[in-house]
Amino acid sequence: MKIRSVKELRAQVSAWRSEGLTVALVPTMGALHAGHLSLVEDGFRRADRVVASIFVNPTQFGPGEDFDRYPRQEQNDAALLDSVGCSGLYLPSVAEMYAPGFCTAVTVEGLSQVLCGVSRPTHFSGVSTVVTKLLLQALPDVALFGEKDYQQLAIIKRTVRDLDIPVQIVGVPTLREADGLAMSSRNRYLSPDDRRIAPLLFQVLSEVGTAFLSGQNADALCADAAARLIPGGFSSVDYVAIRDAETLDKVDRWSGNPVRILGAARLGTTRLIDNVGIPVDQTNL
Ligand code: PAJ
Repeated sequence: MKIRSVKELRAQVSAWRSEGLTVALVPTMGALHAGHLSLVEDGFRRADRVVASIFVNPTQFGPGEDFDRYPRQEQNDAALLDSVGCSGLYLPSVAEMYAPGFCTAVTVEGLSQVLCGVSRPTHFSGVSTVVTKLLLQALPDVALFGEKDYQQLAIIKRTVRDLDIPVQIVGVPTLREADGLAMSSRNRYLSPDDRRIAPLLFQVLSEVGTAFLSGQNADALCADAAARLIPGGFSSVDYVAIRDAETLDKVDRWSGNPVRILGAARLGTTRLIDNVGIPVDQTNL
């Protein structure tokens, strides 16, 4: 079922609610892959109905980023969602989402300025604003997001907590290709050579995690990791970092509190991000 307006979306969710059914929301930008579908499947373990949204959100792309060439394939995406039994597909237009004169933003200070926020200074404000709108439009019981975009997940959890949005936010483990590369809509931009190099990011982050657990210092490990990615074929490294899993604050040494090893690096014109959890990495390798 395709839904294109806030009005229709609210009517559908209310109809389900009046039947006593619970509702999950899975926000996406389309170009769907198995990782996205795993969020829908997880949604069905937590709610009776699952709505996916597809909206390529212009406000989270910076100047010179890939908004214009971001893959748009509505028919194919709709068929994939049908194949996992998705209950509804919300496809708002830019005009539906942003009324003329739109000028309100949700910004999570601090968390939005570190890691990916350094090279993408306006990105997370675009994300938290559009996700707040999607949550308020749908008012689901639960909304699911991938750990693949770990900083985004942390920011969304903080937004919902700080603004008292009555929705449970669930993080879903990263789905990977057989060689460890995290599935991403942007992997299709990789040349065959770059595709062969790409899994090194996950491999290096995993090794950093193991070494950190054995007591080594975070700064030294992160510097070594960045230095390995360049000879491995990456063109540049934005960061490799070890952070507290919840606050994303810096951590020097393993103390038993959960941490996340996060990295962002460029392969040609494509920017890849990935992360692993310590102590328990819940990836689906
Ligand atoms: P998009 O990149 O389409 O991702 C939609 C959701 O799928 C996000 O929660 C993302 O973390 C998750 N996802 C992506 N790759 C995954 C993988 N390999 N395994 C598991 N989950 C994965 O992230 C966005 O869109 C946008 O920023 C959005 C939240 C929709 C706001 O516009």
